[in-house]
Amino acid sequence: MTELADCAKSALERDGEVVLSYGSTLGYAPLREWLAERHSVEPGRVLVTNGSLQAFHFVLDAFSGRGRVLVERPTYDRPRKILAAAGLELGEVPVDDHGLDVDELERELDGPPASFLYTIPTFQNPTGSTLSEERRRRLAELARERGLPVLEDDPYGLVRFEGEPLPSLFELEGGKQVMYSSSFSKTIAPGLRVGYAIVPAALTGKLEELVASTYITPALLAQATVYEFLRRGLFEPNLERVCGLLKARRDAMLGALERELAGRVRWSRPEGGYFLWLDLPDELDASELLTRASEAGVTFVPGADFGGPPSSARLAFSFVSPAEIDEGVRRLAALVAPAAAPV
Ligand SMILES: Cc1ncc(COP(=O)(O)O)c(C=O)c1O
Repeated sequence: MTELADCAKSALERDGEVVLSYGSTLGYAPLREWLAERHSVEPGRVLVTNGSLQAFHFVLDAFSGRGRVLVERPTYDRPRKILAAAGLELGEVPVDDHGLDVDELERELDGPPASFLYTIPTFQNPTGSTLSEERRRRLAELARERGLPVLEDDPYGLVRFEGEPLPSLFELEGGKQVMYSSSFSKTIAPGLRVGYAIVPAALTGKLEELVASTYITPALLAQATVYEFLRRGLFEPNLERVCGLLKARRDAMLGALERELAGRVRWSRPEGGYFLWLDLPDELDASELLTRASEAGVTFVPGADFGGPPSSARLAFSFVSPAEIDEGVRRLAALVAPAAAPV
């Protein structure tokens, strides 16, 4: 917190005139350059937005009208709500322990035209699942062969606390069909509202218009603060700290689940990110369970909110301490009917 306050002060002192003015529609130039270097692209392809969900809105606006939107099932609830509110038809592709089912995607692509695919290949929200390398390669190839635009949403990729990082779809495909979005929400602070997208150069003109008519110029002070944080070399140590905290929380959740619910419930084992997914016994409705859980002081999100089955749930291990997680799982387990058949 003190470091960020100091970064904000320096950002204002060093570049106040730019930061306090309209003009940098696509984002704070030094941050765009930093991101461009990190992703080996031209700075002209980087759009820094007020959070990465805003980038989803812009890509959606740029591509809507070209057909159905393909999404994972289950997927992040906010894009689902945005797409539903826009009245857009969805093509839903199932996700399993190895991420999006690419065979199913191929079958979807044989159906009515699709405008783009929205996917979260790494530590997916809500399942925590990660697309395997083999599937990544097939998906990148499919995007290329079929000319399918893809938005790879990757806010959790750097929050890996176990296992080897996998190449992004964006890297594998070469960034022609695949657009990439990410965020500093999970790696620095969500309230800064600094996210970004890397898009084809041909799209930036259209996006510039969308940005200008949405918020004229993004929140540059936050972007310059993030840039100062990066410039001072504070990002990597902070990421290490965040990953350490999250690992302890994930471990506490896995340990408590094993102790309390083994044989009655199935859960995913993410190597990073914020979430894991529960497959509860079929006869249990997660919304009804949530009512009882809330009374017991525990919360989660029913899987149905993400397009999952009624007997599924998303647990977040990001939010509370290992001790609270341990106690929360204990209380939750007491509410999952003890006589339920093993899954
Ligand atoms: C998959 C996914 N994409 C995007 C976002 C939004 O992030 P931001 O804070 O950058 O808007 C989230 C936030 O939880 C998320 O889980």
